[in-house]
Amino acid sequence: MELMELLTGRRTYRRFLQKEVSRDIIDEILYAARLASSAANKQPLSYVVIRDAKKVEDVFQCTRWAGYLPPGDGQPKDGEKPVLFIAVVENLSVSQDCDTDAGLAIGNMTLAAWNHGVGSCIIGACDKTKLSAMFGLTQEQKLHTVVAFGYPSHKSRITDAEEPGDIKYYLDENRDYVVPKRKREDVVTFL
Ligand SMILES: Cc1cc2nc3c(=O)[nH]c(=O)nc-3n(C[C@H](O)[C@H](O)[C@H](O)COP(=O)(O)O)c2cc1C
Repeated sequence: MELMELLTGRRTYRRFLQKEVSRDIIDEILYAARLASSAANKQPLSYVVIRDAKKVEDVFQCTRWAGYLPPGDGQPKDGEKPVLFIAVVENLSVSQDCDTDAGLAIGNMTLAAWNHGVGSCIIGACDKTKLSAMFGLTQEQKLHTVVAFGYPSHKSRITDAEEPGDIKYYLDENRDYVVPKRKREDVVTFL
């Protein structure tokens, strides 16, 4: 895909086909994560891949989706749930300052996935205590986020936010996501 097409289409997806993501694509997503820039090249992140269906369901139960929508609209139902999670883990003995590294790695992962038509949802709203125990994380490790993946069964498009504060995404008449982005003039200053 052409880069700007890739960036435009790489939206957050929250309903998925129940179709497996191949091992080759998973490996490419992980390679993309490892390619990301890292402060002082410390590379403090590691990854836990969850693709066994029962474990994916266990992780799913610890996640919350689409906070701006009523749960009946935003939370994926049976037959719509993601088929894969990749957890991003901070290794605090390597660095205590992992947030930018994590953002860059997650950006690479979600783009690499979308390059194969695999959609994603970054999940910060999750039960990190439960998930950390599930993943066997040590005291030196901290769960940053889990990223959900799958082939989307809906569309998502961006629109200009009419007012700068109008940032809540919503579903249109086809239950596709519409995601307002602040207008260029509201966020860019040229000096
Ligand atoms: C750090 C971070 C945490 C997020 N956490 C959640 C989450 O817990 N649940 C969810 O449904 N979406 C989550 N999202 C997705 C955002 O809601 C989404 O990126 C935003 O609505 C804009 O949509 P877009 O990604 O299509 O541009 C998160 C995104 C980021 C960057």
